[in-house]
Amino acid sequence: MRIIRAKDYDDMSRIAANIIAAQITLKPDSVLGLATGGTPVGTYKELIKKYNEGVLDFSEVRSVNLDEYKGLPKENAQSYDYFMKVNLFNHVNIKEENCYIPNGMAEDDDAECHRYDEILERFPRDLQLLGLGLNGHIGFNEPNDHFSKGTNLIQLTQSTIEANSRFFDSYEAIPKYAFTMGIKSIMQARKILLCVSGKHKAPILRDLIHGPITPQVPASILQLHNDVIIVADEDALSLM
Ligand code: PGA
Repeated sequence: MRIIRAKDYDDMSRIAANIIAAQITLKPDSVLGLATGGTPVGTYKELIKKYNEGVLDFSEVRSVNLDEYKGLPKENAQSYDYFMKVNLFNHVNIKEENCYIPNGMAEDDDAECHRYDEILERFPRDLQLLGLGLNGHIGFNEPNDHFSKGTNLIQLTQSTIEANSRFFDSYEAIPKYAFTMGIKSIMQARKILLCVSGKHKAPILRDLIHGPITPQVPASILQLHNDVIIVADEDALSLM
């Protein structure tokens, strides 16, 4: 595990974008596992900046997103499909047909999980970007008594629902279930880039790095991956 200490959120975003840009430069047809939430927004802004400067080309890049809320159509401004378009895809030359994300409106949950697993198998990820949930989740893999394998439909915990409430008008509007890439699939990415910012993440980041490997802290499994880079700001590293 390599830990890169960033000064603050903007610095973390610049460093993370540089790592992703290097990946795309070295392998223009890279498959990127992408993430949503507050953490990667700055990273995506930096990538857009590089694209506009003419130093990055997304025309051969594929993206495979981590998760999607169940029950939100693509057009819903809180869906992760929408998030990706607004925060990255609409601003760079990635091809729409090369962007994959679970379908939150799928009628058959099992069939959707199976469909997504096939996509993950077809397009092994060169780099997986991750944020870190306050309860240690990665993707939407919440604390559990086992590590999940493939794509699964999960019930969000109260902690996650509360953390996400800032994006919704009312508690009722927050989805309570989501499709997520499984832990095993996340671990199959060649390289993992975990970004963490803020004092509120300091205790869980400490547990991830120094605590026991347990499905109660799903991100702790990253200790077993042989190519993990953690880019964290000083606030997030303040308990280390
Ligand atoms: P955040 O969420 O980036 O909005 O803090 C991280 C996560 O829940 O994975």
